Amino acid sequence: MKIAAFNASPRIGGNIEMLLDETLKAIEEAGHETAKFRLNEMRIRPCQDCGGCTGTGRCVQADDMEVIADAIRASDRFILASPIFFFGLSAQAKTMIDRCQAFWCEKYLLKKPIPEGPHGRKGLLILVGGMKKEIGVQCGGATATAFFRTVSVGVHETVSFLGVDRKGAISEHETAFQDVHRAGRRLIGQESGSSLFGG
Ligand SMILES: Cc1cc2nc3c(=O)[nH]c(=O)nc-3n(C[C@H](O)[C@H](O)[C@H](O)COP(=O)(O)O)c2cc1C
Repeated sequence: MKIAAFNASPRIGGNIEMLLDETLKAIEEAGHETAKFRLNEMRIRPCQDCGGCTGTGRCVQADDMEVIADAIRASDRFILASPIFFFGLSAQAKTMIDRCQAFWCEKYLLKKPIPEGPHGRKGLLILVGGMKKEIGVQCGGATATAFFRTVSVGVHETVSFLGVDRKGAISEHETAFQDVHRAGRRLIGQESGSSLFGG
C-alpha cells in the first residue's frame, strides 16, 4: 500500500514529528511505501476562493499543492499529524486542507469522488496539544474529518495527546510511542484493537 503522511508542525524534530516517525516506522516495517510531506517547508498558497476549480475540480494555482494532490489521488492510507494551535489545526494543515476545495468540487459538484483502490482509503489523525483542553481535539478533529471525507477517506482514527508542550516532551509520555506504533499498524490492518478499523 501507499501511505501519504502530512506533518503539519513547523517544529522540526518536535512532538508531532517524533510521533509521526514512530507511526511510519511501524508501517515501513510491514513493507509499505511511505511518503512524508513537511508542509511547513512546502510552497502552498492559501485558497483564493477564485472559483477556478468549480467546473473542473482542479486548482488553477501552480505550486507544491500539485505534489500533494497527486499523493492524495494515488495513496491508500493517509496520516494527518498536527499540533493544536489556538484550539484547532496548525495553519500549515489548514492551508493544505483549504486547497482541497478542488477535491470538494470534484466530489460534490462534478460527482466524481476519488476512486478507491483495491485496499480502500483510510486515515489516521495525530494531534498534540500543550494544554489539557479537549476543545482543540474537537475543533481540529472536525476540520480533519471534513478533509478526510472530501478526499474520499471514509473512515479514520484519531490519536491525541494533551499536556505535551515543550519540544521533545512527548518522550516523557508513558505510552505515546506505543500508541502511535499500534495505530500505524491498525491503519494498515496489521493489528487488532479498539479503533474504527475494527478488530
Ligand atoms: C501558535 C501556537 C498556538 C498554540 N495553541 C495551543 C492551543 O490552543 N491548545 C493547546 O493545547 N496547545 C497549543 N499550543 C501548544 C502546542 O500544541 C504544543 O507545544 C505542541 O506540543 C507542539 O507540537 P510540535 O512540537 O510538534 O510543534 C500552541 C502553540 C503555538 C506555537
